[in-house]
Amino acid sequence: MMLRYFILTSCPVKCSNLKPNPQIMNSFGGSWTIDKMEIVVAYAQAYLTIMNKQAWVKTLYFDGFAGSGHIDNDPPESEDVIKGTALRILEIEDPKSFDLYYFVEKNKKNKNLLEQTIKDQFPNKSTFIVQGDCNQKLESMADYLKKNKQFRALAFIDPYGMSVNWKSIESLKDAGVDLWILVPTGIGVGRLLTQTGKIDDLWLNRLEIFLGMDKEDIRKHFYKRQSSFTLFGEENWIEKEKGAIEKAGILYQEKLKTVFKYVSDSFAMRNSMNVIMYHFMMATNNKAGLKIANDIIKPNYKL
Ligand SMILES: C[S@@+](CC[C@H](N)C(=O)[O-])C[C@H]1O[C@@H](n2cnc3c(N)ncnc32)[C@H](O)[C@@H]1O
Repeated sequence: MMLRYFILTSCPVKCSNLKPNPQIMNSFGGSWTIDKMEIVVAYAQAYLTIMNKQAWVKTLYFDGFAGSGHIDNDPPESEDVIKGTALRILEIEDPKSFDLYYFVEKNKKNKNLLEQTIKDQFPNKSTFIVQGDCNQKLESMADYLKKNKQFRALAFIDPYGMSVNWKSIESLKDAGVDLWILVPTGIGVGRLLTQTGKIDDLWLNRLEIFLGMDKEDIRKHFYKRQSSFTLFGEENWIEKEKGAIEKAGILYQEKLKTVFKYVSDSFAMRNSMNVIMYHFMMATNNKAGLKIANDIIKPNYKL
């Protein structure tokens, strides 16, 4: 991505080794790990530039799946390559830092590692590192933003799978938040939607919670009825729509538009077989934010 050019030339963060790294590609399955990090850092810098001009605004960075601070808990030689998004965001000083940082991590070991690194490297920043579930904390953040109108938040939601509940996203309606979200369209939704439409109840329930739709609507959206006349009469069956993963990406964008005024184009993250694993997108109530996000995810973006 040309986006790397932007980070290398204008980022105060020391990220001179930001190249796709085989180690990362092995442990996480694709260079999207790097791409999404670059996208969020580039957006955060543009966001802080805008907020810097509004003296009354206080800024909050919310990371719902913060990790340990490094992409791998056992970093090999080159620390720069595997530094996680949380630390890269904390390194931003120019044009300004965020006023507050709130990191959520479910795993106790990861939370402790992140907390220690932040204590050592960023002792003067106002940080909260909490062990918990992102869904619950998203709802708490929504309440906080609605009560504290001087705050604007940039949120980064980076799950491995379908652990974000639609209800938590819905809670962000009318809150001053720009949300970057990694939607597991291929790795999650696409895999649960079987070819025949026979879906285990547990999976169907997970899809309902994730998409905020009931099972009938899910079936209508992703499956079509087929029929053919054979020697023994008409046969009917249902079949998964072609392009179900792309459909899931568009569906999630449309759903986000019911909560936020604007939703960016989505950045499709593919594995080495060129299959889409995730769609990465940004939702905001701010038109300027939309333009920045769309520019950043353009394939040849260069500032
Ligand atoms: C993809 S990693 C995060 C990487 C990190 N965002 C980065 O760029 O450096 C996902 C992390 O989320 C944590 N996690 C999983 N489920 C969670 C949940 N429901 N709430 C909060 N954290 C969760 C995992 O323990 C893992 O450390």
